[in-house]
Amino acid sequence: MSESAPATSRVLVTGGAGFIGSHTVVELLEAGFEVCVVDDFSNASPKVIGRIVEIVGETRASHLHFHEVDICDEAALSRVFDEERPEAVIHFAGFKAVGESVAKPLAYYSNNLGGTLTLCRVMEAHDVRAIVFSSSSTVYGDPDEVPLTEASPKKNATNPYGWTKWMIEQILSDLWVADDRWDVVLLRYFNPIGAHPSGLIGEDPKGIPNNLVPYVAQVAVGRRDAVHVYGNDYPTPDGTGIRDYIHVVDLAKGHVAALEWMAGRRGVEIFNLGTGRGSSVLEVIDAYAAASGREIPYVIDPRRPGDIARNWADASKAERELGWRAAYDLADMCRDSWHWQSMNPEGYEA
Ligand code: UFG
Repeated sequence: MSESAPATSRVLVTGGAGFIGSHTVVELLEAGFEVCVVDDFSNASPKVIGRIVEIVGETRASHLHFHEVDICDEAALSRVFDEERPEAVIHFAGFKAVGESVAKPLAYYSNNLGGTLTLCRVMEAHDVRAIVFSSSSTVYGDPDEVPLTEASPKKNATNPYGWTKWMIEQILSDLWVADDRWDVVLLRYFNPIGAHPSGLIGEDPKGIPNNLVPYVAQVAVGRRDAVHVYGNDYPTPDGTGIRDYIHVVDLAKGHVAALEWMAGRRGVEIFNLGTGRGSSVLEVIDAYAAASGREIPYVIDPRRPGDIARNWADASKAERELGWRAAYDLADMCRDSWHWQSMNPEGYEA
């Protein structure tokens, strides 16, 4: 172990081949962690691993171990813990499509809640009680006030996906109530977009993208005709929805900061990870057009059910406590998203 190795050096990452997971694995390796990824590729490409190796180089990549395992498979997950002996876990694995969760609630509850319960049982059995959970600003629901602080009220979710985030936060908090050796960090992400500046890893949604920026990217690259803007009659300056978009590399670095901060602590702590700045749908389309040099046609459609007018973060707690703040702005996010999209027009499977 080198002198600069972090206090917690062996971290297990569930869902480490996904969009946010893969970027976090890169940052962890670059920060000197020993990283063990558990992913079943149900919503990720095996090609991600080779790309991560390309980014970090062979030497750092020798600290990356990969296990193709479904976290709901308790016996298999337990064997991974036996072998890898992690000291902490970052938990990303889960289904994440809002619309699909409305159609398939059982699949979402059994996979997201079931996977988390299995993971926690295996952690306890291996005496590992440090976990960073990939939560979402969706737990704030339709906010009365912005910016949102960690003390803003949690509100009812509007779909099963949102409820799984809500409930997993509760489950992890209850674990600590029962046993104060647990060290739980709930990271509430705002809207992660962008891609690694290398253009080697990025977001690769299956089918028609549900989220704004992947859709805009596919219009820019010519895979789709026009962006559908969901409503221009919201009480915002241009009538379109406002979100706090955050560069996925900034978000990934927030996980490294959280792990370094939590080492040896106990308790439950919540951090918002956002930039503190909101952008409207039309501002995002304009920024993407500027970054790509492409025209981005759009049409105005009715509001999407369940959408809120606006949310953005007060991210000052993360800055104060973790020493982390977002470095990239919307132009950077669009530039890096476009770099990824234009290098990989069909995603990983081209
Ligand atoms: N939008 C469009 N057209 C699209 C897609 C989205 O106009 O094709 C608009 C939405 O109405 C919204 C904004 O773009 O105003 C952002 O929508 P996204 O779907 O990109 O993101 P959401 O804010 O709806 O959802 C995201 C994550 C969820 C998470 C939620 C928390 O995708 O996983 O933030 O607030 F739960």
